[in-house]
Amino acid sequence: MPCETRAVTSPAASSTDLTPSPADSVLVRAARKQPVGHTPVWFMRQAGRSLPEYREVRRDVPMLTACRTPELVTEITLQPVRRHGVDAAIFFSDIVVPLMAVGVDLDIVAGTGPVIAEPIRTRADLDRLPELTAEHVPDIAESVRLLVGELGHTPLIGFAGAPFTLASYLVEGGPSKNHERTKALMHGDPQLWSDLCARLAQISRTFLRVQVEAGASAVQLFDSWAGHLSRADYLRHVEPHSRSVLEGIGDLGVPRIHFGVGTGELLPAMAQAGADVIGVDYRVSLSDGAARTGGRYAVQGNLDPALLFAPWEALAARVREIVDEGRAAGVPGHIFNLGHGVLPDTDPAVLTRVVELVHEHSAR
Ligand code: CP3
Repeated sequence: MPCETRAVTSPAASSTDLTPSPADSVLVRAARKQPVGHTPVWFMRQAGRSLPEYREVRRDVPMLTACRTPELVTEITLQPVRRHGVDAAIFFSDIVVPLMAVGVDLDIVAGTGPVIAEPIRTRADLDRLPELTAEHVPDIAESVRLLVGELGHTPLIGFAGAPFTLASYLVEGGPSKNHERTKALMHGDPQLWSDLCARLAQISRTFLRVQVEAGASAVQLFDSWAGHLSRADYLRHVEPHSRSVLEGIGDLGVPRIHFGVGTGELLPAMAQAGADVIGVDYRVSLSDGAARTGGRYAVQGNLDPALLFAPWEALAARVREIVDEGRAAGVPGHIFNLGHGVLPDTDPAVLTRVVELVHEHSAR
């Protein structure tokens, strides 16, 4: 089985060879717009239901229990690195973990997503949402330390949810198609909205700081649902808070990736919020994404996750195109990824082949 033959390099091995440290890995170099020997590749949701070894570990363990158990976080995070040979690990957790850590009563329901027992819609509701401190999440720091020890030269990407996406779950009480209560609060009580997002920015900033201080080499801020906003609303009601997360970790010196879905209109604003790398989904080409952000930011993306179900030759042609686009003039750095997360029914063997093809086609 590929997951057993591809061992993760141990730190001991990497210190005796010429393999670069995680801080000088292809992922970090591409994020910093520095030259690389091949295009780095990882996949959002690379750890998860597409992997039989993940389903095995999670069989009797609820999602949020797994997220708070360092040995399980470590094992699950390493699974796709061993199996696919991706250029980065993404920390196995969830955007709602820090909310749970400060006492929000929530669950992650399989096939649905996060469900909040008592949604936050009033000033009194906000008053019962405390700030996050490192003491709330000792297990997160412990998981990161364990992982960094196991990963050797492979960088770990830490992450957090952006204030808007977190606020949407808290205000709606769960996943939402239209975000109607969230937008009603944003426009109906802008002060309460702003105070809620400021609190969430503090929580996300601290969650990211804990991960980086424990050894993560890069971070990604997920504003998955920001694409539901107009540019004017994003700039007025959301960007200042995302900026406070991204700028608030600037002193840590790790690359910051800023990602959302359907954000073609928002890319310049999301880049200016303090990112080093801008996530581009499959609706916008990488070259357009780079042009819209003034050619100053590395880009990450942007294979449509549904194309992983297409016949191999069609998929391979698209992968080669994306690699070529990512190397074109005007694109200062490229990290290959999907436009959104791996779908649960994806054949993991196809993901492994995509990694091999990205490496082979981009080798220089
Ligand atoms: O591999 C990775 O990308 C790292 C782990 C990760 C998870 N969630 C694990 C997870 C990451 C980075 C997230 C972030 C996250 N969580 C986001 C932002 C990314 C995105 O997809 O846009 C969002 C919106 C959430 C909220 C959330 N949690 C959703 C929508 C779901 C899916 C619900 C479902 O069952 O379809 C979850 C649960 C979740 N988070 C799973 C995983 C692997 C599935 C839970 C399971 O395996 O039972």
